Amino acid sequence: MASKTKQFEWNHKHLLGLRDLSAEEITYILDTAQGFEQISKRAVKKAPALRGKLVVNMFFEDSTRTRNSFTLAASRLSADLIEFTKKSSSVSKGETLLDTARNLEAMGIDIVVIRHGAGGAPKLLSKNINACVINAGDGFCEHPTQALLDVYTIRKAKGSLKGLKVAIVGDIAHSRVARSNMWAMTKLGAEVIFVGPPTLMPGEVDRLPVTVSYSLDEVIEKVDVVNVLRIQFERLGGNPFPSVREYSHYFGLTVERMKKAKPDILVMHPGPINRGLEIESEVADGPNSVILEQVTNGVAVRMAVLFLVNQAAAAQKNLKL
Ligand code: CP
Repeated sequence: MASKTKQFEWNHKHLLGLRDLSAEEITYILDTAQGFEQISKRAVKKAPALRGKLVVNMFFEDSTRTRNSFTLAASRLSADLIEFTKKSSSVSKGETLLDTARNLEAMGIDIVVIRHGAGGAPKLLSKNINACVINAGDGFCEHPTQALLDVYTIRKAKGSLKGLKVAIVGDIAHSRVARSNMWAMTKLGAEVIFVGPPTLMPGEVDRLPVTVSYSLDEVIEKVDVVNVLRIQFERLGGNPFPSVREYSHYFGLTVERMKKAKPDILVMHPGPINRGLEIESEVADGPNSVILEQVTNGVAVRMAVLFLVNQAAAAQKNLKL
């Protein structure tokens, strides 16, 4: 697949996060995804790029968008695919992550896509198996392909991220999406504002390349993009806010609040949505929403990532010969 920036050499056989990628590398993934987007518009939605390669989706946490998007992306590139699920595997008998991965590798896998509740699990795998590893979300750390599809969606709508103001709203503390978004967006030139109650801000927030606001009302009129996060009830300990109604009152993206926003503001959400809590249905389904475009773009972005890690692995193997 031809890319716009041909002089650039991609050499990462793993995608573990965006923190350590440069703006040039992120842009290269987005440009590659742009090429792959065309495949999904053809009558025959297939390219042979990964023919003969075996991809395994190893999801230790539930997923609708990410898992199916990777499945579709692998299938569009003609790869073979194993769908591993924790519930129906020997993990329930006590088999470790590394033993599980090594046994799958013994069947000849080329690429592992892993989602795990423990931060660092994808990195651990990358150090212990030969296959390429793609992080599909690890603990509170990173969700790189979500952020890539988010910046792809913004770039498509606005042309560039340079100079844009982006509010990321809600449960920042428990959000790997917020962290990966922050790295991708700031590297591409956007200004990121974390918005939420103090109890849902990460402890290290002062050291991050963002500004912080505790008032969505003050921020909403200034921003070009608002990315609303899901309240992750499954990860919350204690009572980070007095009641769901109070949270909605101060931080919900409501029709009323949207009246103060720029007319061309982009409304984003990684999904799944708690409708009526962090965002009202009229806003989630309204004219400024690109929530379903995010999902559509995720397939092309994941095709690009699968393609690039495989290409880097092949190049590294040839170098060693
Ligand atoms: N955005 C996201 O990661 O959604 P899923 O949990 O459904 O994969």
